[in-house]
Amino acid sequence: MKIIEAKNYEEMSRFASEKVQACIDENIQPNLGLATGSTPIGLYKHLISSNKKGDVSFRNVTTFNLDEYVKLSETDPNSYRYFMNEELFNHVDIDKNNTHVPNGKATDLDQECLDYENKIREAGGIDLQILGIGANGHIGFNEPGTSFQSRTQIVKLDEQTRVANSRFFDSMDDVPTHAITTGIGTIMDSKEIILLISGSAKKEAYERLINGEVSEEFPASVLQNHSNCIVIVDKESIS
Ligand code: F6R
Repeated sequence: MKIIEAKNYEEMSRFASEKVQACIDENIQPNLGLATGSTPIGLYKHLISSNKKGDVSFRNVTTFNLDEYVKLSETDPNSYRYFMNEELFNHVDIDKNNTHVPNGKATDLDQECLDYENKIREAGGIDLQILGIGANGHIGFNEPGTSFQSRTQIVKLDEQTRVANSRFFDSMDDVPTHAITTGIGTIMDSKEIILLISGSAKKEAYERLINGEVSEEFPASVLQNHSNCIVIVDKESIS
């Protein structure tokens, strides 16, 4: 695991966008793994701006998002499909048919998980996976205790995660209790991983990630075992 200390959020986002652009340049049909949440918004802004300037094209890019809330439709402003359309896909030259987010409204959710996992495999796997981290160490929605071998599945969200994400909802009761997430095994199969860390709430998680032991009790610690993982940390916000 390589650590890059960015001086602030802007620099973290720029470093990450340079890595994403390099991946797009190096692969004929790049498969990107994408995350939602506050942390990667700056990265997406950089990618939009580079696309508008003609420095990068998403014409040949396929994307797979990490996760989606169960029961939220894609027109719900709190769904991750809606977020991705708003924060990236609507503003770049990507074919929306090549953008994938698990369907939280699928009638057979277990089948949806199997299909999603197969879609990633059939596409040839993820070339570059972008991750954020929860204060409890979750990656995707893989909460503490999740097996490192897990594949795409339905998960119950930790109370801490629901409280953290309630900032986007009208009330706690509206925050979904379950989500579909790609598994830790799925994430670890990515050829390259970039974990973005920003915000004072992530200070302890960052310290545990770099100094702590590898344990299923702290899901992100698995990244220490990945041969091509870069952590880009916004030093200003976590100091
Ligand atoms: C989102 C995701 C989550 C977030 C994490 C951090 O798709 O998979 O693991 O990356 O909850 O969220 P923020 O960036 O909002 O602090």
